[in-house]
Order: sequence, then structure tokens, then C-alpha cells
Amino acid sequence: MPQALITGGSAGLGRALAAGLAADDWDVVITGRDRDRVHSAASELGPRVAAVAGDVTDEAHRSALAGRFRDGLDLLVNNASTLGGPLRPVLHSSDDGLRQVWETNVVAPMALVRTLRPLLRPGAAIIDISSDAAVEHFETWGAYAASKAALDHLTLTLAAEDLDVRWWAIDPGDMRTQMHQEAFPGEDITDRPLPESVVPAFLALLAGRPPSGRYRAAQLAPAFPGA
Ligand SMILES: NC(=O)c1ccc[n+]([C@@H]2O[C@H](COP(=O)([O-])OP(=O)(O)OC[C@H]3O[C@@H](n4cnc5c(N)ncnc54)[C@H](OP(=O)(O)O)[C@@H]3O)[C@@H](O)[C@H]2O)c1
Repeated sequence: MPQALITGGSAGLGRALAAGLAADDWDVVITGRDRDRVHSAASELGPRVAAVAGDVTDEAHRSALAGRFRDGLDLLVNNASTLGGPLRPVLHSSDDGLRQVWETNVVAPMALVRTLRPLLRPGAAIIDISSDAAVEHFETWGAYAASKAALDHLTLTLAAEDLDVRWWAIDPGDMRTQMHQEAFPGEDITDRPLPESVVPAFLALLAGRPPSGRYRAAQLAPAFPGA
């Protein structure tokens, strides 16, 4: 069976993707810092999904993940991410605040890519979860947006450097999740689609295997209807 690793798979998009991949006959490992939550998610998602609790910024956790895939890995989804607390104007940001967001959203996924690259099987793919914030300039979103722009850039540079792997940066679009609620505190976000709604686009991506590049989930499902 193909093997996938999804960072931050205990909630939101990561959890929805784990469910979608498991239903498509993938074996999936999900991660998350909250041990109880990630283990509950894995047992609710069924026997194809296993949990490894930990923080992507922790090198020991990343090594433990590599240990799970000694027999090879077909898909890494760098999904775990942080807004870095309440959104604020760039001039009100702190050095530590910027470092924390970029450590989680840029440094950790690239470290995981380096750690896992030798374990990738022929035909493997990396999906780095992007955002519309990577290409737009929204007031107060600067730290997070810059992290996603950097992640996009690194993904596409890897695509130019390492032709044996598919490198995809995917903007999933707005989704009704904890992170989205944290970005809009006190707002009613029930008009945003659930993360499950974008899973078919990811399955279409994996089935259609378009060239490495940056895609919006919204453009994938109709373009690769074979999934
Ligand atoms: N929601 C949106 O509207 C939206 C829009 C565009 C892009 N995105 C992107 O989509 C991805 C998923 O977001 P989401 O909305 O699904 O978020 P979410 O519901 O808040 O879920 C985040 C997941 O990541 C885990 N996580 C967070 N920090 C982690 C860390 N340092 N190490 C390991 N796991 C960590 C969380 O578990 P723990 O807290 O237990 O660690 C949880 O499982 C992110 O990359 C986000 O930037 C979201």
C-alpha cells in the first residue's frame, strides 16, 4: 500500500485528508502536538491511520517520523502551520513572533523534506500547503503570509532542483477550521466550506499527477476529474 505522512493531521484539513487518503487505500501517519487529540483522531479514522504525537519544529520528532518510514514513503503533506497568535500589523510584530511563525511554517517543513527525502520511493510527491495569503497582501496577515510565500518559493525551487519528485504547493482556499476561526475571532465563519470539501481536489492531484508547481484546490478537481 502507498504510505503517506500528514503533519498536523489531528484536525482541520490534515484530518480530512487523512480520511480521504485512507478511504483511497493509503496507509497514513498523522501528527500533532496534542497527544490525546492525535491518537483519538487516528483511532476514529480507522486501521489505516496511525498517530505520532509531536511538534514539527522538534528535530527528535522529525527523526522519529523518519523511523516510521524506513521501508519508504510515497507522500509527505506539510500541512501543520501556525498563525502565530492574534494577527497584527507588521510594525507591531516582534522578532520572536516572526521567528516562531517562520520556524513552524518554513524551517520545519524544509527540515522534514531533507530528513525524509532519502526515504522517498520512485514516483513520490510532496505537498506543501499554501494559502491565498502567499500571493495577496492582507492587512495584519504579514508574518503568516510571508511564511507561506517563502514555502511556495522553496517548493518551486525544489521542483527545479529535484526532478525525481513531484513538488506541489497547494492553496486549499478558505475552510471552516480552528485556524480560520482564530484568524477571525468572534466572527461567524459557518459560510466557509468544511475542509472535507477540498479533499476531492487533492485526490485528483494525486491521480492526475500534473507537473510540479503551485495550484489552487479550486482549479484541480475540474482539471483532473479522474480521481
Ligand atoms: N483554514 C483555512 O481557511 C486555510 C486557508 C488557507 C490555508 N490553510 C492552511 O491549511 C493548513 C491546515 O490548516 P487548518 O485550518 O486545517 O488548521 P487547524 O484546523 O488549526 O489544524 C492544524 C493542525 O496542525 C497541527 N499543528 C499545528 N502546529 C503544529 C506543530 N507545530 N507541529 C505539529 N502539528 C501541529 C494541529 O494539532 P496540534 O495543535 O495538536 O499540534 C492540527 O492537527 C495550514 O497549513 C494552513 O496554513 C488554511
